[in-house]
Amino acid sequence: MFYKLFIFVFCIFTTSGSSVQYEKQTQNLRTFPDDFFFGTATSSYQIEGAWNEGGKGWSMWDQLVRTDPGHIRDGTNGDVAANSYHFYKKDVELLKELGVSVYRFSIAWPRILPYGRPDYVNPEGVAYYNNLINELLANDITPFVTIYHWELPQNLNEQGGWLTSEIADWFGDYARVLFANFGDRVKHWITINEPHIHCSFGYGTGSHAPRIKSPGIGYYECGRNIILAHAKAWHIYDKEFRATQGGVIGITLDSTMAMPGSNSPDDIQGAADYMTFYLGQYADPLFSATGNYPQRMIDLVAEASRRQGLNESRLKPFTQEEAKNNIGTSDFFGLNHYSSTYVYRNSSVTGIYEAPSLNDDLQVGTFPDPNWYKNPTAWVYRYGQGLRKLLVHIKDTYNNPTIYITENGFSTATGRNDTDRADYYREYLNGVLDAIDDGVNVKGYCAWSLIDNFEWSFGYSVRFGLYEIDQDDPEKIRKPKYSALVYKEIVRTRTVDPSYNPDLATDASVDIKSSFLFVLAVAVLNIIW
Ligand SMILES: *[C@@H]1O[C@H](CO)[C@@H](O)[C@H](O)[C@H]1NC(C)=O
Ligand SMILES: *[C@@H]1O[C@H](CO)[C@@H](O)[C@H](O)[C@H]1NC(C)=O
Ligand SMILES: *[C@@H]1O[C@H](CO)[C@@H](O)[C@H](O)[C@H]1NC(C)=O
Repeated sequence: MFYKLFIFVFCIFTTSGSSVQYEKQTQNLRTFPDDFFFGTATSSYQIEGAWNEGGKGWSMWDQLVRTDPGHIRDGTNGDVAANSYHFYKKDVELLKELGVSVYRFSIAWPRILPYGRPDYVNPEGVAYYNNLINELLANDITPFVTIYHWELPQNLNEQGGWLTSEIADWFGDYARVLFANFGDRVKHWITINEPHIHCSFGYGTGSHAPRIKSPGIGYYECGRNIILAHAKAWHIYDKEFRATQGGVIGITLDSTMAMPGSNSPDDIQGAADYMTFYLGQYADPLFSATGNYPQRMIDLVAEASRRQGLNESRLKPFTQEEAKNNIGTSDFFGLNHYSSTYVYRNSSVTGIYEAPSLNDDLQVGTFPDPNWYKNPTAWVYRYGQGLRKLLVHIKDTYNNPTIYITENGFSTATGRNDTDRADYYREYLNGVLDAIDDGVNVKGYCAWSLIDNFEWSFGYSVRFGLYEIDQDDPEKIRKPKYSALVYKEIVRTRTVDPSYNPDLATDASVDIKSSFLFVLAVAVLNIIW
């Protein structure tokens, strides 16, 4: 009997032992403030699957992967992805395991409004997001809901999509349906994810849906309509819902951090212009006192347009009325950030870009620091101080807004021993701690991403997950990577300990449920014997 008791005690000990010993090492580390939250992020098309189930309509991504499958690097699509439509409870279990308090996910517009317009609201779509939201709340996890993460209903795409000004009304009507159905429980709304990437890939280079190649005209029209659509949704929330629901609503902008490649005045001006075009185009209308594009950008595009013999600028500034309507329409600054770059401007970039285009209007070249690490299979250069500099840039340029980092992460190939991703999270979170010391009002952080997912035109060939998913596995089992164990410890201790080195092979949390069941089985056997 004694040896059975011994096994029982031993099992309990080995499942909880590792963190006890580690506690001692964290004493002199900086701590994240109490009001700073940790979370993770995903988006609907990248994880949900169930592309034609539950009454969902087609999005422009469904259209792209059906009509042009060869465009995706590995020939895959988001038809099944992580199957979160069916396995959302598994996702919530992971969030629980990580100990995070926030989950940022997005709602698929065509799952709620299959044809884009609110004359038909799909009850199965509403039920799915109700289930997810309720499951999160039952587990004390706050939902941060992105209203639009690039899944435009194909029906609206065919009517002009983001190139028509009517889309502000379409988007506002869609947002109203979400506020009315979910706003009693959702208190954090993000209108639109990454306008810069969406417009430049979708309507500039054409590498994303809807694959329109118009880098000097369509790109700017998309950006303009996105700002107007965002402002419309904000005003709808503010007028019709805020008093009763009491939430906040903002936008998520993405930016690389640009630094001058040398001390030459041209490089310094080039790096400043890079930030103006990348971030200022979207941030100034919402966060500056003018409600319009940066004057420098208005001037540069107008000048290039004149040179090109056009009678008006390809960047159409907002009217006085529109600008007034833009000002102050983001309750927080949502920021997605991945990487940094050096910028130069000299005669070697003159006339090298196709015209008209954003790149030709901007006229700079870029290069990474040779010391920045990058996983050989992907594109994200690791430079944690870049995030710090970007946060300080936002504080200084936009009057110290409340900032939520809504995405930050690192790309690798498959494999769970992702020590380079863990180092990325450590380095960037140290950058966030530095920024807090610098007086930046940054209040939260969402790691991109919770699970491996469909990485747009790269398919599944590039991975961002804290949890690995084998795409061939119909059950889509989620397995923690080394980085998940490191992030979990950061969340638990609210510090970044460089020496924490969990053992991926034996860590108890890898399969906490089966070891718990084992303990239970031994206990039951003890009783039976
Ligand atoms: C510019 O020219 C186009 C056609 O060439 C015309 O439709 C437009 O009204 C002109 N704009 C201005 C501001 O003159
Ligand atoms: C322009 O700057 C880049 C980056 O510093 C450099 O590699 C290139 O040689 C320069 N070209 C000229 C013409 O000065
Ligand atoms: C994981 O990779 C690191 C180097 O990045 C290596 O030192 C370690 O032994 C690997 N662990 C496993 C379990 O393979």
